Amino acid sequence: MAKIAVLAPQVADQIAAGEVVERPASVVKELVENALDAGAGAIRVAIENGGKTLIRVSDDGAGMSREDAELALARHATSKIRDPADLIGVATFGFRGEALPAIASVARFELETSPDGRTGTRIGAGGGKRDAVADVVRQRGTTVTVRALFFNTPARRKFLRAQATETRAVVEVLTVLALTRPDVAFTLTSDDRALIDVPPAAGQIERVRALWGAELADTLLPVAHCEGPLEVRGFAQRPAQARPAGRKGYVFVRGRPIRDPFILRAAEAGYRSTIAPGDRPSLILFLDLPGDAVDVNVHPAKLEVRFREKFFVEKVVGEAVRLALGPLGAAAPLGVGGETAGAGFPVSGVGGFGSTLEIFPGGPPTGVAIVDQHSAHERVLYETVMRQLAGDGAPAQRLLLPLTAEFTPLELDAIESHRELLRRVGYEIEPFSGRTVVVHTAPNPHPRFDATRCLQELVADLAGGRFGGWANRLERFAASFACRAAIKAGQRLELEEMRELVGRLLGATLPAHDVHGRPTIVQLPKDELERRFGRS
Ligand SMILES: Nc1ncnc2c1ncn2[C@@H]1O[C@H](COP(=O)(O)OP(=O)(O)OP(=O)(O)O)[C@@H](O)[C@H]1O
Ligand SMILES: [Mg+2]
Repeated sequence: MAKIAVLAPQVADQIAAGEVVERPASVVKELVENALDAGAGAIRVAIENGGKTLIRVSDDGAGMSREDAELALARHATSKIRDPADLIGVATFGFRGEALPAIASVARFELETSPDGRTGTRIGAGGGKRDAVADVVRQRGTTVTVRALFFNTPARRKFLRAQATETRAVVEVLTVLALTRPDVAFTLTSDDRALIDVPPAAGQIERVRALWGAELADTLLPVAHCEGPLEVRGFAQRPAQARPAGRKGYVFVRGRPIRDPFILRAAEAGYRSTIAPGDRPSLILFLDLPGDAVDVNVHPAKLEVRFREKFFVEKVVGEAVRLALGPLGAAAPLGVGGETAGAGFPVSGVGGFGSTLEIFPGGPPTGVAIVDQHSAHERVLYETVMRQLAGDGAPAQRLLLPLTAEFTPLELDAIESHRELLRRVGYEIEPFSGRTVVVHTAPNPHPRFDATRCLQELVADLAGGRFGGWANRLERFAASFACRAAIKAGQRLELEEMRELVGRLLGATLPAHDVHGRPTIVQLPKDELERRFGRS
């Protein structure tokens, strides 16, 4: 008997599912891409329990005839390409003919579709087995319902994360697709709560505003640059508004969202020295180039592409961003006076090597110590905040003029569920209207503190699940707050402030590291210095 056998279709589908269907968000991505390929003008997505129990995608696109609907569930069945040449420059999201059978092999699956609003077909399937085909009455378009994802693949199911994490991934996937097609309306409801609801928009910036609010949209500069066969359009954030966390970074190639850290890095290179080290500007970039200059068939979930001229593409992207920043970019200081360039300042000279700044209590140490002011303050704040969270809270300042700030639905959820912790560090917040909240009191950890910015970054952390590695919720919150509230690397401190900071740092329980595990102090002992200067 031959040792080799061709795999049964169910097995082959499950293997394909392993590549294409990683989590609920991947199902949403495939189904929404199909809806866009079908020419939908409005796409509605509903999930329950982060998509683990239910995902439903409805569209008003072309729909399918019964014959097509039955074929759609077969492997390598696609209406989008016919022969290899079609792969070059393929303009639809899909072309592999794998998504639907792969999803149907690892979930309970139901397809309802009508090409004309008169005849309609319902097909159920589950774990690779097909149920009976039935008539159904519905409008033109297609609805796919996916229940009990991974019910028959326990190993996969085990890798699913908490509901909030899976929901976040779905929001992200749909947000990205909504950016590619401002002309299409998208809604997402999660357990009956609306997380995304964007009407058809006139253009990209309007879509950005609908998705993330005016606060982000107003910090974006348009990018538009053409070189040879490559066109780069989109948005780059004003340097002054770049932040170390919570940035949006998206790249689209020929309308397809892709993950490409190199392109984002090339775009960041366009900022040269206009941003502080560590700040990451938001970037939304649409690259257009001829179909034969890029291979889209290199990743099972189509998350990557291969450029024929990678370096050219990166160069032009950097150039496009540089041009978008225009005079701003040219006028920015190149680390003048060391104020923006470095993160530290000397706290002590060396006995015997000239003047001494007496910052360390009890006289200068024998050597040089360099303190990272941000890390040091972060450590000090973290320990203070942990005490405050355990006790009554921090002294807060009542604001004469309450602040307002805008947040996304996910961020509003995070505010709601952290309201008491926020109060204890000094933020008294109330919902105002829509996405806006009012801030009545704010903490005041240092004179240069920016209450709004800190709150925005903190809430972005909480909503984005950052500091996820931290043992418990309280620590996570305190770490994030400390990081966002601490004085920044480039801020100039008075000698007295430096003294106070170092004094408080040395009084901390864990003075040597900040909450990210980076050192707060770097020391160069006296004998090492002497050795380097050839004195010993
Ligand atoms: N929402 C929809 N509306 C109309 N037709 C659809 C829809 N979803 C799927 N189809 C049809 O079913 C076929 C199979 O879909 P499937 O997602 O499995 O493959 P594909 O989109 O062709 O390729 P890929 O696997 O790369 O996504 C599609 O080619 C399309 O003809
Ligand atoms: Mg598809």
